[in-house]
Amino acid sequence: MLKGKTILLGLSGSISAFKMAHLASLLKQAGADTYVIMTKNACRFIDPVVFDTLTGHRTVLDDFDRTNLSPVSHIDLPKMADVFLVAPASADIIGKAANGIADDMLSSAIIAAYSCPRLISPAMNVHMYQNPAVQENLKKLQSRGWTVVQPGAGFQACGDIGDGRLPEPEELMEWLEMACGAEKDLAGKKVLVTAGATRESIDPVRFITNHSTGKMGVSLARAAAIRGASVTLVAADMRVEPPKFVETVRVKSAADMFEAVTARAPEQDIIIMAAAVADFTPITVADQKIKKKNKNEGMTLELTRTKDILAHLGSVKPEGQFLCGFAMETENLLANAAEKLTKKNADMIVANSLRTKGAGFGTDTNIVTILKPEGSVELPILSKNEVADRILDQIIAR
Ligand code: CTP
Repeated sequence: MLKGKTILLGLSGSISAFKMAHLASLLKQAGADTYVIMTKNACRFIDPVVFDTLTGHRTVLDDFDRTNLSPVSHIDLPKMADVFLVAPASADIIGKAANGIADDMLSSAIIAAYSCPRLISPAMNVHMYQNPAVQENLKKLQSRGWTVVQPGAGFQACGDIGDGRLPEPEELMEWLEMACGAEKDLAGKKVLVTAGATRESIDPVRFITNHSTGKMGVSLARAAAIRGASVTLVAADMRVEPPKFVETVRVKSAADMFEAVTARAPEQDIIIMAAAVADFTPITVADQKIKKKNKNEGMTLELTRTKDILAHLGSVKPEGQFLCGFAMETENLLANAAEKLTKKNADMIVANSLRTKGAGFGTDTNIVTILKPEGSVELPILSKNEVADRILDQIIAR
Protein backbone atom coordinates (compact mmCIF):
# COMPACT_ATOMS: atom_id res chain seq x y z
CA MET A 1 0.00 0.00 0.00
CA LEU A 2 2.88 2.38 0.65
CA LYS A 3 4.85 1.46 -2.48
CA GLY A 4 6.06 4.64 -4.19
CA LYS A 5 4.73 6.89 -1.42
CA THR A 6 6.88 9.61 0.11
CA ILE A 7 6.87 9.38 3.89
CA LEU A 8 8.19 12.12 6.16
CA LEU A 9 9.08 11.06 9.71
CA GLY A 10 9.78 13.59 12.45
CA LEU A 11 11.54 12.32 15.57
CA SER A 12 11.78 14.19 18.86
CA GLY A 13 13.53 13.21 22.09
CA SER A 14 12.19 9.99 23.59
CA ILE A 15 13.73 6.68 24.58
CA SER A 16 11.26 5.03 22.19
CA ALA A 17 13.07 6.59 19.19
CA PHE A 18 14.79 3.21 18.68
CA LYS A 19 11.48 1.78 17.39
CA MET A 20 11.64 4.21 14.49
CA ALA A 21 14.62 2.36 13.01
CA HIS A 22 12.42 -0.69 12.60
CA LEU A 23 9.68 1.48 11.10
CA ALA A 24 12.15 2.96 8.60
CA SER A 25 13.18 -0.57 7.67
CA LEU A 26 9.56 -1.71 7.24
CA LEU A 27 8.95 1.32 5.02
CA LYS A 28 11.96 0.46 2.89
CA GLN A 29 10.72 -3.12 2.52
CA ALA A 30 7.28 -1.77 1.54
CA GLY A 31 8.86 0.30 -1.27
CA ALA A 32 8.23 3.70 0.29
CA ASP A 33 10.61 6.64 -0.03
CA THR A 34 11.29 7.90 3.50
CA TYR A 35 12.79 11.17 4.71
CA VAL A 36 13.62 11.79 8.36
CA ILE A 37 13.88 14.96 10.41
CA MET A 38 15.32 14.72 13.93
CA THR A 39 15.47 17.19 16.79
CA LYS A 40 18.70 17.69 18.74
CA ASN A 41 17.33 15.61 21.61
CA ALA A 42 16.20 12.78 19.31
CA CYS A 43 19.87 12.46 18.30
CA ARG A 44 20.73 11.72 21.95
CA PHE A 45 18.67 8.52 21.76
CA ILE A 46 19.52 7.23 18.28
CA ASP A 47 22.18 8.19 15.79
CA PRO A 48 20.95 9.84 12.56
CA VAL A 49 23.33 7.56 10.64
CA VAL A 50 20.85 4.73 11.33
CA PHE A 51 18.22 6.58 9.29
CA ASP A 52 20.71 7.75 6.63
CA THR A 53 21.41 4.08 6.03
CA LEU A 54 17.86 2.77 6.21
CA THR A 55 16.28 5.48 4.05
CA GLY A 56 19.09 6.24 1.61
CA HIS A 57 18.61 9.97 2.36
CA ARG A 58 20.62 12.13 4.68
CA THR A 59 18.65 12.75 7.87
CA VAL A 60 17.80 16.42 8.21
CA LEU A 61 18.82 17.96 11.53
CA ASP A 62 19.34 21.64 11.00
CA ASP A 63 17.62 23.93 8.53
CA PHE A 64 20.82 25.96 8.16
CA ASP A 65 22.95 22.96 7.18
CA ARG A 66 24.18 23.84 3.69
CA THR A 67 24.41 20.18 2.69
CA ASN A 68 20.63 19.68 3.05
CA LEU A 69 18.64 18.53 0.01
CA SER A 70 17.16 22.00 -0.35
CA PRO A 71 17.94 25.34 1.28
CA VAL A 72 14.41 25.38 2.70
CA SER A 73 13.96 21.76 3.75
CA HIS A 74 11.36 22.64 6.40
CA ILE A 75 9.09 23.86 3.57
CA ASP A 76 10.01 21.39 0.83
CA LEU A 77 9.91 18.14 2.78
CA PRO A 78 6.28 18.46 4.03
CA LYS A 79 5.29 19.68 0.55
CA MET A 80 6.61 16.58 -1.19
CA ALA A 81 5.37 14.12 1.46
CA ASP A 82 2.29 11.93 1.01
CA VAL A 83 2.10 11.72 4.80
CA PHE A 84 3.94 13.35 7.71
CA LEU A 85 4.26 11.32 10.93
CA VAL A 86 5.74 12.95 14.01
CA ALA A 87 6.84 10.02 16.18
CA PRO A 88 7.90 9.83 18.89
CA ALA A 89 6.33 13.17 19.77
CA SER A 90 7.59 14.54 23.09
CA ALA A 91 5.58 16.90 25.30
CA ASP A 92 7.89 19.63 24.06
CA ILE A 93 7.29 19.15 20.31
CA ILE A 94 3.53 18.75 20.92
CA GLY A 95 3.56 22.04 22.83
CA LYS A 96 5.47 23.79 20.09
CA ALA A 97 3.22 22.39 17.34
CA ALA A 98 0.02 23.38 19.17
CA ASN A 99 1.26 26.88 19.92
CA GLY A 100 2.88 27.82 16.66
CA ILE A 101 6.49 27.78 17.85
CA ALA A 102 8.98 27.10 15.07
CA ASP A 103 12.46 27.30 16.56
CA ASP A 104 14.16 24.28 14.98
CA MET A 105 13.96 22.12 11.88
CA LEU A 106 11.19 19.78 13.06
CA SER A 107 8.92 22.40 14.66
CA SER A 108 9.31 24.58 11.54
CA ALA A 109 8.38 21.64 9.26
CA ILE A 110 5.32 20.96 11.46
CA ILE A 111 4.12 24.55 11.12
CA ALA A 112 4.84 24.50 7.37
CA ALA A 113 2.91 21.23 6.74
CA TYR A 114 -0.52 21.81 5.22
CA SER A 115 -1.14 19.64 2.14
CA CYS A 116 -0.53 16.08 3.33
CA PRO A 117 -2.21 13.99 6.06
CA ARG A 118 -0.47 14.79 9.37
CA LEU A 119 -0.15 12.32 12.24
CA ILE A 120 1.34 12.85 15.66
CA SER A 121 2.21 9.96 17.97
CA PRO A 122 2.82 11.05 21.59
CA ALA A 123 5.40 9.07 23.57
CA MET A 124 6.32 10.04 27.11
CA ASN A 125 5.92 9.19 30.79
CA VAL A 126 2.31 8.52 31.79
CA HIS A 127 2.15 11.53 34.14
CA MET A 128 3.55 13.84 31.49
CA TYR A 129 1.04 12.42 29.00
CA GLN A 130 -1.87 12.94 31.40
CA ASN A 131 -0.82 16.51 32.17
CA PRO A 132 -3.70 18.82 31.15
CA ALA A 133 -1.29 21.02 29.17
CA VAL A 134 -0.29 18.08 26.97
CA GLN A 135 -3.90 16.89 26.60
CA GLU A 136 -5.09 20.39 25.66
CA ASN A 137 -2.29 20.74 23.14
CA LEU A 138 -3.23 17.40 21.56
CA LYS A 139 -6.88 18.49 21.35
CA LYS A 140 -5.79 21.72 19.66
CA LEU A 141 -3.79 19.77 17.10
CA GLN A 142 -6.73 17.43 16.49
CA SER A 143 -9.05 20.37 15.90
CA ARG A 144 -6.58 21.62 13.28
CA GLY A 145 -6.61 18.40 11.28
CA TRP A 146 -3.85 16.41 12.95
CA THR A 147 -4.58 12.75 13.66
CA VAL A 148 -3.41 11.83 17.15
CA VAL A 149 -2.16 8.23 17.29
CA GLN A 150 -3.21 6.92 20.71
CA PRO A 151 -0.17 5.74 22.68
CA GLY A 152 -0.01 2.21 24.04
CA ALA A 153 -0.30 1.39 27.74
CA GLY A 154 2.10 -0.67 29.80
CA PHE A 155 5.55 -0.72 31.35
CA GLN A 156 7.56 2.44 30.75
CA ALA A 157 11.32 2.88 30.63
CA CYS A 158 11.22 5.01 33.81
CA GLY A 159 9.47 2.19 35.71
CA ASP A 160 5.98 3.73 35.73
CA ILE A 161 3.06 1.85 34.21
CA GLY A 162 0.42 3.52 32.07
CA ASP A 163 -0.36 5.31 28.79
CA GLY A 164 2.47 6.86 26.86
CA ARG A 165 4.26 4.06 25.03
CA LEU A 166 5.05 4.62 21.35
CA PRO A 167 3.02 2.03 19.37
CA GLU A 168 4.98 -0.80 17.78
CA PRO A 169 6.34 -0.14 14.27
CA GLU A 170 3.81 -2.53 12.68
CA GLU A 171 0.98 -0.48 14.17
CA LEU A 172 2.56 2.77 12.98
CA MET A 173 2.71 1.20 9.49
CA GLU A 174 -1.06 0.66 9.69
CA TRP A 175 -1.61 4.31 10.60
CA LEU A 176 0.52 5.37 7.62
CA GLU A 177 -1.46 3.04 5.34
CA MET A 178 -4.64 4.48 6.80
CA ALA A 179 -3.44 8.00 6.01
CA CYS A 180 -2.24 7.56 2.44
CA GLY A 181 -2.30 3.87 1.47
CA ALA A 182 -5.45 3.76 -0.66
CA GLU A 183 -8.01 5.71 -2.60
CA LYS A 184 -10.79 6.78 -0.19
CA ASP A 185 -13.54 5.13 -2.23
CA LEU A 186 -15.57 4.33 0.90
CA ALA A 187 -15.41 7.87 2.32
CA GLY A 188 -18.66 8.83 4.02
CA LYS A 189 -19.83 5.19 4.23
CA LYS A 190 -20.63 3.37 7.44
CA VAL A 191 -19.45 -0.24 7.48
CA LEU A 192 -20.11 -2.85 10.16
CA VAL A 193 -18.00 -6.01 10.20
CA THR A 194 -18.38 -9.00 12.51
CA ALA A 195 -15.38 -11.19 13.34
CA GLY A 196 -14.18 -14.06 15.48
CA ALA A 197 -15.76 -16.99 17.25
CA THR A 198 -18.76 -16.64 19.55
CA ARG A 199 -18.70 -18.59 22.83
CA GLU A 200 -21.72 -20.25 24.38
CA SER A 201 -21.43 -20.86 28.11
CA ILE A 202 -22.17 -24.28 29.60
CA ASP A 203 -21.30 -23.37 33.20
CA PRO A 204 -19.04 -20.75 34.85
CA VAL A 205 -15.99 -22.75 33.69
CA ARG A 206 -16.78 -24.12 30.23
CA PHE A 207 -18.07 -22.96 26.88
CA ILE A 208 -18.61 -24.11 23.30
CA THR A 209 -16.80 -22.26 20.55
CA ASN A 210 -15.15 -22.82 17.16
CA HIS A 211 -11.80 -22.38 15.43
CA SER A 212 -12.31 -18.87 14.00
CA THR A 213 -9.43 -16.50 14.85
CA GLY A 214 -11.01 -13.29 13.52
CA LYS A 215 -8.26 -12.70 10.93
CA MET A 216 -10.57 -12.35 7.91
CA GLY A 217 -12.95 -9.99 9.73
CA VAL A 218 -10.09 -7.85 11.04
CA SER A 219 -8.62 -7.63 7.51
CA LEU A 220 -12.02 -6.46 6.22
CA ALA A 221 -12.44 -3.87 8.98
CA ARG A 222 -8.91 -2.56 8.41
CA ALA A 223 -9.30 -2.41 4.62
CA ALA A 224 -12.66 -0.61 4.84
CA ALA A 225 -11.21 1.96 7.27
CA ILE A 226 -8.13 2.50 5.10
CA ARG A 227 -10.50 3.13 2.18
CA GLY A 228 -12.18 5.89 4.16
CA ALA A 229 -15.20 4.19 5.75
CA SER A 230 -16.27 4.74 9.32
CA VAL A 231 -16.01 1.17 10.63
CA THR A 232 -17.56 -0.67 13.56
CA LEU A 233 -16.09 -4.07 14.31
CA VAL A 234 -18.31 -6.36 16.36
CA ALA A 235 -15.72 -8.75 17.70
CA ALA A 236 -16.31 -12.08 19.40
CA ASP A 237 -13.26 -14.08 20.57
CA MET A 238 -10.29 -13.24 18.36
CA ARG A 239 -6.65 -14.23 18.33
CA VAL A 240 -5.63 -11.04 16.54
CA GLU A 241 -5.77 -7.41 17.66
CA PRO A 242 -8.35 -5.14 16.05
CA PRO A 243 -6.97 -2.06 14.28
CA LYS A 244 -6.87 0.96 16.63
CA PHE A 245 -8.63 3.19 14.10
CA VAL A 246 -11.92 1.27 14.04
CA GLU A 247 -14.56 1.28 16.75
CA THR A 248 -14.52 -2.19 18.33
CA VAL A 249 -17.51 -3.59 20.21
CA ARG A 250 -16.63 -6.74 22.17
CA VAL A 251 -19.23 -9.51 22.46
CA LYS A 252 -19.21 -13.10 23.69
CA SER A 253 -22.23 -15.18 22.66
CA ALA A 254 -24.32 -15.36 19.50
CA ALA A 255 -27.12 -13.63 21.45
CA ASP A 256 -24.75 -10.76 22.43
CA MET A 257 -23.68 -10.45 18.80
CA PHE A 258 -27.32 -10.37 17.68
CA GLU A 259 -27.98 -7.46 20.08
CA ALA A 260 -24.84 -5.53 19.15
CA VAL A 261 -25.35 -5.93 15.40
CA THR A 262 -29.10 -5.31 15.21
CA ALA A 263 -28.80 -2.18 17.39
CA ARG A 264 -26.33 -0.68 14.93
CA ALA A 265 -27.58 -2.18 11.65
CA PRO A 266 -30.17 0.40 10.52
CA GLU A 267 -27.58 3.18 10.08
CA GLN A 268 -25.03 1.05 8.18
CA ASP A 269 -24.40 1.28 4.43
CA ILE A 270 -22.58 -2.05 4.35
CA ILE A 271 -22.68 -5.01 6.76
CA ILE A 272 -20.21 -7.87 6.38
CA MET A 273 -20.81 -10.92 8.56
CA ALA A 274 -17.42 -12.61 8.76
CA ALA A 275 -17.87 -13.98 12.29
CA ALA A 276 -18.29 -17.70 12.92
CA VAL A 277 -21.52 -17.53 14.90
CA ALA A 278 -22.64 -20.52 16.96
CA ASP A 279 -25.75 -22.17 15.52
CA PHE A 280 -26.57 -23.85 18.84
CA THR A 281 -26.34 -22.82 22.49
CA PRO A 282 -26.97 -24.77 25.73
CA ILE A 283 -30.64 -24.57 26.78
CA THR A 284 -29.56 -23.70 30.32
CA VAL A 285 -26.31 -22.35 31.70
CA ALA A 286 -25.46 -23.98 35.04
CA ASP A 287 -24.91 -21.47 37.87
CA GLN A 288 -22.25 -23.66 39.44
CA LYS A 289 -19.51 -25.76 37.90
CA ILE A 290 -20.98 -29.06 36.65
CA LYS A 291 -19.37 -31.87 38.68
CA LYS A 292 -18.72 -35.45 37.61
CA LYS A 293 -21.02 -37.82 39.48
CA ASN A 294 -19.67 -41.30 39.04
CA LYS A 295 -16.71 -42.77 37.22
CA ASN A 296 -18.32 -44.11 34.06
CA GLU A 297 -21.11 -41.64 33.55
CA GLY A 298 -21.10 -39.64 30.30
CA MET A 299 -22.79 -36.34 29.74
CA THR A 300 -25.42 -35.03 27.34
CA LEU A 301 -25.72 -31.35 26.61
CA GLU A 302 -29.08 -30.10 25.44
CA LEU A 303 -28.73 -27.39 22.86
CA THR A 304 -31.14 -25.01 21.22
CA ARG A 305 -30.81 -22.95 18.01
CA THR A 306 -29.42 -19.42 18.17
CA LYS A 307 -30.93 -16.62 16.10
CA ASP A 308 -29.48 -16.36 12.60
CA ILE A 309 -28.23 -12.77 12.55
CA LEU A 310 -27.57 -12.63 8.81
CA ALA A 311 -31.01 -14.02 7.96
CA HIS A 312 -32.62 -11.53 10.34
CA LEU A 313 -30.71 -8.62 8.77
CA GLY A 314 -31.76 -9.88 5.32
CA SER A 315 -35.41 -9.86 6.37
CA VAL A 316 -35.36 -6.24 7.61
CA LYS A 317 -32.78 -4.85 5.16
CA PRO A 318 -33.38 -1.14 4.48
CA GLU A 319 -33.34 0.19 0.91
CA GLY A 320 -29.76 0.73 -0.27
CA GLN A 321 -28.04 -1.29 2.45
CA PHE A 322 -25.55 -3.90 1.25
CA LEU A 323 -25.46 -7.21 3.11
CA CYS A 324 -22.54 -9.59 2.70
CA GLY A 325 -22.32 -12.98 4.41
CA PHE A 326 -19.74 -15.73 4.51
CA ALA A 327 -20.16 -19.46 3.95
CA MET A 328 -17.65 -21.80 5.44
CA GLU A 329 -18.21 -25.30 4.08
CA THR A 330 -16.60 -28.72 4.04
CA GLU A 331 -18.60 -30.05 1.06
CA ASN A 332 -20.77 -28.76 -1.83
CA LEU A 333 -19.23 -25.30 -1.38
CA LEU A 334 -20.93 -23.44 -4.20
CA ALA A 335 -24.36 -25.06 -3.90
CA ASN A 336 -24.49 -24.45 -0.14
CA ALA A 337 -23.24 -20.88 -0.51
CA ALA A 338 -25.77 -20.14 -3.29
CA GLU A 339 -28.54 -21.41 -1.02
CA LYS A 340 -27.38 -19.04 1.76
CA LEU A 341 -27.42 -16.11 -0.70
CA THR A 342 -31.13 -16.55 -1.47
CA LYS A 343 -32.33 -17.95 1.86
CA LYS A 344 -30.75 -15.14 3.90
CA ASN A 345 -31.58 -12.40 1.33
CA ALA A 346 -27.92 -11.36 1.20
CA ASP A 347 -26.43 -9.30 -1.65
CA MET A 348 -23.23 -11.33 -1.64
CA ILE A 349 -21.83 -14.47 -0.06
CA VAL A 350 -18.10 -15.09 0.24
CA ALA A 351 -17.59 -18.84 0.15
CA ASN A 352 -14.56 -20.72 1.35
CA SER A 353 -13.85 -24.35 1.92
CA LEU A 354 -12.22 -25.76 5.03
CA ARG A 355 -10.93 -28.59 2.85
CA THR A 356 -8.75 -26.37 0.66
CA LYS A 357 -5.14 -25.87 1.74
CA GLY A 358 -4.44 -22.17 2.32
CA ALA A 359 -8.08 -21.33 3.11
CA GLY A 360 -10.13 -21.21 6.28
CA PHE A 361 -9.42 -20.75 9.98
CA GLY A 362 -6.21 -19.27 11.32
CA THR A 363 -4.31 -19.06 8.02
CA ASP A 364 -2.91 -15.77 6.71
CA THR A 365 -4.26 -16.62 3.26
CA ASN A 366 -7.67 -17.47 1.90
CA ILE A 367 -9.16 -18.89 -1.30
CA VAL A 368 -12.68 -17.62 -1.84
CA THR A 369 -15.44 -17.52 -4.40
CA ILE A 370 -17.66 -14.45 -4.29
CA LEU A 371 -21.29 -15.25 -5.11
CA LYS A 372 -23.68 -12.54 -6.25
CA PRO A 373 -27.17 -12.89 -7.70
CA GLU A 374 -25.78 -12.23 -11.21
CA GLY A 375 -22.88 -14.67 -11.01
CA SER A 376 -19.74 -15.61 -9.16
CA VAL A 377 -16.10 -14.52 -9.08
CA GLU A 378 -13.43 -17.05 -8.17
CA LEU A 379 -10.29 -15.61 -6.57
CA PRO A 380 -6.87 -17.29 -6.42
CA ILE A 381 -5.00 -17.84 -3.17
CA LEU A 382 -4.36 -14.39 -1.69
CA SER A 383 -3.43 -12.92 1.68
CA LYS A 384 -6.48 -12.21 3.84
CA ASN A 385 -5.70 -8.47 3.48
CA GLU A 386 -5.85 -8.80 -0.31
CA VAL A 387 -9.02 -10.90 -0.16
CA ALA A 388 -10.57 -8.15 1.98
CA ASP A 389 -9.77 -5.53 -0.67
CA ARG A 390 -11.18 -7.71 -3.47
CA ILE A 391 -14.40 -8.23 -1.50
CA LEU A 392 -14.71 -4.47 -1.00
CA ASP A 393 -14.01 -3.90 -4.74
CA GLN A 394 -16.93 -6.20 -5.57
CA ILE A 395 -19.22 -4.45 -3.08
CA ILE A 396 -18.30 -1.00 -4.44
CA ALA A 397 -18.79 -2.21 -8.03
CA ARG A 398 -22.37 -3.18 -7.18
N1 CTP B 1 -24.55 -16.51 10.67
C1 CTP B 1 -25.31 -15.66 11.46
N2 CTP B 1 -25.95 -16.13 12.56
C2 CTP B 1 -25.89 -17.43 12.90
C3 CTP B 1 -25.12 -18.31 12.10
C4 CTP B 1 -24.47 -17.81 10.99
O1 CTP B 1 -25.36 -14.47 11.16
N3 CTP B 1 -26.52 -17.84 13.98
C5 CTP B 1 -23.90 -15.95 9.48
C6 CTP B 1 -22.39 -16.10 9.47
O2 CTP B 1 -21.76 -14.97 10.07
C7 CTP B 1 -22.08 -16.17 7.99
C8 CTP B 1 -23.31 -16.84 7.41
O3 CTP B 1 -24.36 -16.68 8.37
O4 CTP B 1 -21.98 -14.91 7.39
C9 CTP B 1 -23.17 -18.32 7.09
O5 CTP B 1 -22.68 -19.00 8.20
P1 CTP B 1 -22.34 -20.55 8.15
O6 CTP B 1 -21.90 -20.98 9.50
O7 CTP B 1 -21.49 -20.85 6.97
O8 CTP B 1 -23.71 -21.18 7.80
P2 CTP B 1 -25.03 -21.36 8.60
O9 CTP B 1 -25.96 -20.29 8.16
O10 CTP B 1 -24.76 -21.45 10.04
O11 CTP B 1 -25.59 -22.72 8.01
P3 CTP B 1 -24.98 -24.21 8.14
O12 CTP B 1 -24.53 -24.34 9.54
O13 CTP B 1 -26.14 -25.03 7.79
O14 CTP B 1 -23.90 -24.30 7.14
